[in-house]
This record gives sequence, structure tokens and C-alpha cells, in this order.
Amino acid sequence: MTHLMETYKRLPVAFVRGAGSWLEDTTGKRYLDALSGIAVCGLGHAHPRVTRAIAEQAGTLLHTSNLYQVPLQERLADRLCEMSGMEKVFFGNSGAEANEAAIKIARLHGNNRHLAKPSIIVMETSFHGRTMATLTATGSRKVQAGFEPLLTGFLRAPFNDVEAISKIAQNANEVVAILVEPVQGEGGIAVPAADYLAKLRQICDDQGWFLMLDEVQTGNGRTGKFFAYQHAGIMPDVVTTAKGLGNGVPIGACLARGVAASVFGPGNHGSTFGGNPLVCAAANAVLDALEEDGLMARATVLGDRILTSLRSRLAGNNRVRDIRGAGLMIGIELAEPCGELVAQGLDAGILINVTRDNVVRLLPPLTMSDAEADLVVDKVANLIEA
Ligand SMILES: Cc1ncc(COP(=O)(O)O)c(C=O)c1O
Repeated sequence: MTHLMETYKRLPVAFVRGAGSWLEDTTGKRYLDALSGIAVCGLGHAHPRVTRAIAEQAGTLLHTSNLYQVPLQERLADRLCEMSGMEKVFFGNSGAEANEAAIKIARLHGNNRHLAKPSIIVMETSFHGRTMATLTATGSRKVQAGFEPLLTGFLRAPFNDVEAISKIAQNANEVVAILVEPVQGEGGIAVPAADYLAKLRQICDDQGWFLMLDEVQTGNGRTGKFFAYQHAGIMPDVVTTAKGLGNGVPIGACLARGVAASVFGPGNHGSTFGGNPLVCAAANAVLDALEEDGLMARATVLGDRILTSLRSRLAGNNRVRDIRGAGLMIGIELAEPCGELVAQGLDAGILINVTRDNVVRLLPPLTMSDAEADLVVDKVANLIEA
């Protein structure tokens, strides 16, 4: 570890292989994975379709360049647009990069309209990444501290507060967009009111702003639809995703429609690796599995099963303040900080995460069996009851 920069406090375990919902460490101990590498391995580990696609593509062609046509990238973009109702896609390599593209689209649009300081409304307790623009957009002083000067051109509002956005609309004349997560993940599995996105859509329509959704964590079937906004019956102007799209290969995507889809022209943005043949082969295989294996509907069924069981098992437990979720994004908010549960989970053979100090976060694979889902509930409830 000594030659790695100390950007992560790592737990004392190393995994050597995975299969489905299970990981195995260097000693042969097995762990039930209720985190999926933070919403990345939505199809579980070593999914045969993805493994096959990567192996075949690695033996054919890894990379060319975006100087040339990349048919697998075209195919992936076609499919993403068909599944989402969006029109154009830019591919990068991570969630932060997908959001950078969204932020640049909003700014370029504002500058094209001769605004002196095009601004984007972002939310408290949000998370958008670790690059300078995305950490500025992120609603966490912990993420920002020490990296000043932050960027200008961002206004902040409380999450799930439509009134606050309306107030900004009355006073600010250089806003070009709202950037918001449909469900805040790092922010503690914060699920807004059911009509939140529709109301934001209305404000954006009235004001001529772009509605830009960060679906880096909520996307790719995790909440039960390909994108979480599809539950709300609205369309964003821009949507970003990453994590689950490659099931472990690094890929991010920024999708746009309408005016937003034609803001970028040649030379405005780019990425050496973005959307290369290898990652696109993997992502196309992920989409095959999501669609053909009915995994998005499965996320809803599994999520309901886990949420209902956790609620009944932990009912009356005075350590528990709230149990909430959207599909397979599940949060158990405790009355006090509970970071120690992560290491206790490792001892007990389950991978979980704690966010915002006191929210146990579960992001299990969409491929889990009912029995594995029940085991997640049992192991997590045991940890909380201990
Ligand atoms: C909602 C959201 N946006 C952006 C990011 C950043 O993604 P990445 O770490 O791939 O840059 C994350 C990562 O947790 C996220 O949850």
C-alpha cells in the first residue's frame, strides 16, 4: 500500500475472484456482495455475457480512436437513445466525466446566448464527482475543502425543495440549468417526493432552463427502470450515467435531447478512451442482459422484497430511524453514526456501505436470487441488532 496515494481508507481485505453475488478473498473466505462495487456490478461478478463480450473484443480490437468511426459506440448510442428517449450521446470513462460533459453543455449553451455568467443550480447533499467542476457542483464541504478556489457559476438549493428553486427563478436571470440526482446516493439514499422531477421539469420549461439529471448511480436499471426519471413520466434535457453501464469496465455517458443535443460541435469536447471498442462491447452486453433477462423489473421485485423484510424485521428497533429505497438503492438510517458496521459486516461475510455517517447503504446486484436477498436482510439486521 505504501506507494498508493492515501486517497482511500481501505479495509484490510483483498478479493481475488467473484461469481454472481459472491466474492472470495485471499484466504478463501466468501462474502455476499450487497454493494456491487458501489452500484457498478449490477449483473453481479463474472457475468457470462459480459465476460464473453470482453474476451471476444479483447481478441479482436481494443482501441482505435475517436478520430475514426467506432461502430460498437454507434450501436451503444443507438440503443441507449432507444431505451431512454434521448437523442445524442457523448462517451467518457467515469461518472465525473459524464457530469463534466453536462456542465460544459450548459455553459456553452449559456455563452452561445451571450450570458455573462451562465449558472447551474445544484443541490445540498448532492454528489457529482471529484474533478474541479463536479466537486464544485457537489453539496459537501468535506469534498470541497482545501480545493479552493472553486469554480463560479453554481447556485445551491436544498434537495427536494421546489419552493427554493422557484425563488431562485424569480431572482436569477443567468441560470441555464438544474443538475440533480433523482435519488441522492452518497447523500444517504434520499428519495424525493414523487412529483419532484415533474415540478422541476415544469420550472425548467417555464424558465427555458435545461433539466440535467445525474443518473450515474440511479441509472442502468437500478431503480427498476433503465433511468429513474422514467418513473416520473418526464424527459430531461441531459442525463448522465456511468457505474452500472459497463458492469466494471470504465465507461460514462452524457445523453442529451432537443436543443441540448446540438450544443457541442467538433472540437468542443473529447476523450481519448471514451467509448472505445472494448468498453462498448461490454456495455452492449450489459444492455442485452438488462433487457433479455428482465433485470429492471427484477430490481423492483427484489428491492420491494428487501425493503419489506427489513421493515418488518427491524420494526420497533430504536436504533433505526428510517428505512427507505428506490428499487435496489436501499438506505437504513440509524439514530447515531454507524461506520463500524462496515468492518463488522466483513467479519460476518457481507459487503455493505455507510454513507452520511449514519445511513447503511445497500446496492445489491440486480441478478440476486430471492434466497440471497433474504440472506442480505438477515445479515444486515443481525449487524444492526447486535
Ligand atoms: C450520483 C453520482 N454522480 C457522480 C459520481 C462520480 O462518479 P465517478 O466516481 O465514476 O467519477 C458518483 C459516484 O459515486 C455518483 O454517485
